[in-house]
Amino acid sequence: MWFRPQHLPQGWFVVAESREIDGGPIGVTFFDRDFVIYRGESGKPVMLDAYCKHMGTHLGKNSSAMLIVADVGGKRIEGDAIRCPYHGWRYNAEGDVDDIPYHDGPCPKSASIRSYPVVDNMGCIMMWFDEQGEAPLYPAPYLQQWDEAGWVHWNLDHLPELDIHPQEVLDNMADNRHLGPTHGAPCEYFENEIKGHVLIQRQGGAMALYGGVMLYTTTWYTGPGVLLSKQVWGDTTQFEMIANTPVGDGRIKAWHGCLVKAQGETVGPEDYDMARQVQAGALEAFSKDFEIWQHKAPALKPMAMKTEGPFLNNRKWYGTFYGDSGNELTGQSALNGFYHVPGVATPAEREHAIDDGIPI
Ligand code: FES
Ligand SMILES: [Fe+2]
Repeated sequence: MWFRPQHLPQGWFVVAESREIDGGPIGVTFFDRDFVIYRGESGKPVMLDAYCKHMGTHLGKNSSAMLIVADVGGKRIEGDAIRCPYHGWRYNAEGDVDDIPYHDGPCPKSASIRSYPVVDNMGCIMMWFDEQGEAPLYPAPYLQQWDEAGWVHWNLDHLPELDIHPQEVLDNMADNRHLGPTHGAPCEYFENEIKGHVLIQRQGGAMALYGGVMLYTTTWYTGPGVLLSKQVWGDTTQFEMIANTPVGDGRIKAWHGCLVKAQGETVGPEDYDMARQVQAGALEAFSKDFEIWQHKAPALKPMAMKTEGPFLNNRKWYGTFYGDSGNELTGQSALNGFYHVPGVATPAEREHAIDDGIPI
């Protein structure tokens, strides 16, 4: 593969909640582009560039067009295709025009727009973004617990858009020294691991605000856009998700949620209350990072101390999603391995044993 540096990172990214497209097509903006997302009649989500090639109409931002004449069928969505609200040209799920209501014969190929790989996954619509249109290199992040009995699903928190390079959000993965000052839970052991397109952090420590209860976490990014974290404290087990998606260069949107283990085998009404409280508590913890990010200046080159986590290494890993290392997978595997911090215990030394049931 030729080395072509990208302007925006490649990977799987959250672009909407699943339920947002249940009511019809929506328009969203990410990666400095406008898109339409809709659910086809088969149930499959479809994501296309937003603008009809005929005369530039936004395919997802229309609530009033009639589309009622018989030859157009009166519907925006037909099968997995969508009609433009202006003159009724029909785009199929691959982004090709396959019907023009007042035209016989083949539809122009030049009317095609780009279609993006999308999955409906854990209550989220996730897209694979690659500036050059490369197909997905790995599956979208997924937790099997989402489809098992006994887990309360998240209700995603939508955070305000934020002017920050997403790299700084991922700096958190190496940041062993902010856990005390920012979150009140200094870590007693710490490790990063890189496994190809997955970046992992294992850490744990006593939570000062909760009577010194130990918190154990294994957190991993599957590519640059989706963080999942298994967190165990007392008799609570939860998975947290934090998704960040570039809106443009230097601006992101983020979502947050917690998938929480019910007390019994199945989910009872009291588990919902408990799960909402757990998510609110986790959001409060995350908000402490968020507030710092809202007001900070860019850290183009962190002044890393030896007793801090491997920021610069993790940034190298992040850079592979821009094609900075040529072939992404080769660039990542060169970084594969465990990273420890001088003077800080490792998970192996501190009986960290929470990695079961995690897809890493
Ligand atoms: S602008 Fe889309 S059909 Fe005319
Ligand atoms: Fe943090």
